[in-house]
Amino acid sequence: MHADYTPMSIADVQRLRADLDQRGRKLVFTNGCFDLLHAGHVRYLEQARALGDALVVALNSDQSVRALKGPDRPLNCENDRAEVLSALRAVDAVVVFHDERATTLIEAIRPHVYAKGGDYTVDSLNREERKALEAAGTEIRILPLVPGKSTTNTINKMLGSNDANRLRIAVLGSGEGSNLLAIINAIQTGTLNAEIAISLSDQADSNFLKIAREAGLPAQFVNGGNNPRKLSEAAQKEIFEHLERARVDVVVLAGFMRILKEPVISAYAGRIVNVHPSLLPKHKGANAPQLALQAGDSETGCTVHLVTAEIDAGRILAQAAVPVFAGDTAEILHARIKIEEHKLLPQVLNEWHERGLPVRGAGAS
Ligand code: GRF
Repeated sequence: MHADYTPMSIADVQRLRADLDQRGRKLVFTNGCFDLLHAGHVRYLEQARALGDALVVALNSDQSVRALKGPDRPLNCENDRAEVLSALRAVDAVVVFHDERATTLIEAIRPHVYAKGGDYTVDSLNREERKALEAAGTEIRILPLVPGKSTTNTINKMLGSNDANRLRIAVLGSGEGSNLLAIINAIQTGTLNAEIAISLSDQADSNFLKIAREAGLPAQFVNGGNNPRKLSEAAQKEIFEHLERARVDVVVLAGFMRILKEPVISAYAGRIVNVHPSLLPKHKGANAPQLALQAGDSETGCTVHLVTAEIDAGRILAQAAVPVFAGDTAEILHARIKIEEHKLLPQVLNEWHERGLPVRGAGAS
């Protein structure tokens, strides 16, 4: 097992190419997403490898897979895809690239042979890529695809008829992402029949985004602007567009620290939930565990509620209480509350879905 597997750098591949060249051998290059590996991929890579003496696979990064195939992909994050690919007999090296096209890599590596899957002809290759290949004196080889084997086919088969029934949720967060993880776990263990269609964060380096990416979820950073509690108008719009593109049924705010306004609030009225670390209506706003301590409460907890234009004031869907102990700090108390949040939030989503969600476009109840 390679827990800390790292793909090859371009400089490493350039050295490999120079070494092969010196020995009169050939470097074969191909590129792709290789999201859910199937026999078609394996056969294709074997054939590509047979065209020379070493095979380098340029793997599309998560960001470029999303740009090419939409927000539901990739299913597996780039490090996992690179690790799996590099374990194949036919593959000598994997390098991750971020553009939609492999032009820059082709220019840097100047492979002896370029292999491409049979849905292309030499003429339908991207113009820029083809120019770079011709400039490098690379031989272009189109390999036949294995009929009936494709990632999309595999995904459709796995989804089966249950797909139509599955709740498509968006999760928005700014921080630790422990509630996101609780939702992921509930989906994986089958206690929540849902799919995270998009995860969004206003914090580029948040643990929330790290968890989302490691789980292979579509994950996006949205620049919210300078005010840490507000979202710029452009960001409000950008979030709305992400939600629409991902066709979500429900929006879950799981530690999202900025205030969501129009157009999302109206378009998703009655379908946006927030989890808050207090027994609302007590202790609205930020630092709720600290407020419970300052108030001398002997009990506090968490609330899952609908989101409306007024902060922490929408209809309460469920609550769970926890005791406050002498000597509690805000951190200790918050950690105790979160244990309940992690059970309550997936449970509410599931029950809510089973009882029938308000249809798209319905007003807040
Ligand atoms: C939770 O306590 C939630 O109630 C509050 O923000 C916190 C988010 O925690 N709104 P995490 O990022 O899910 O770990």
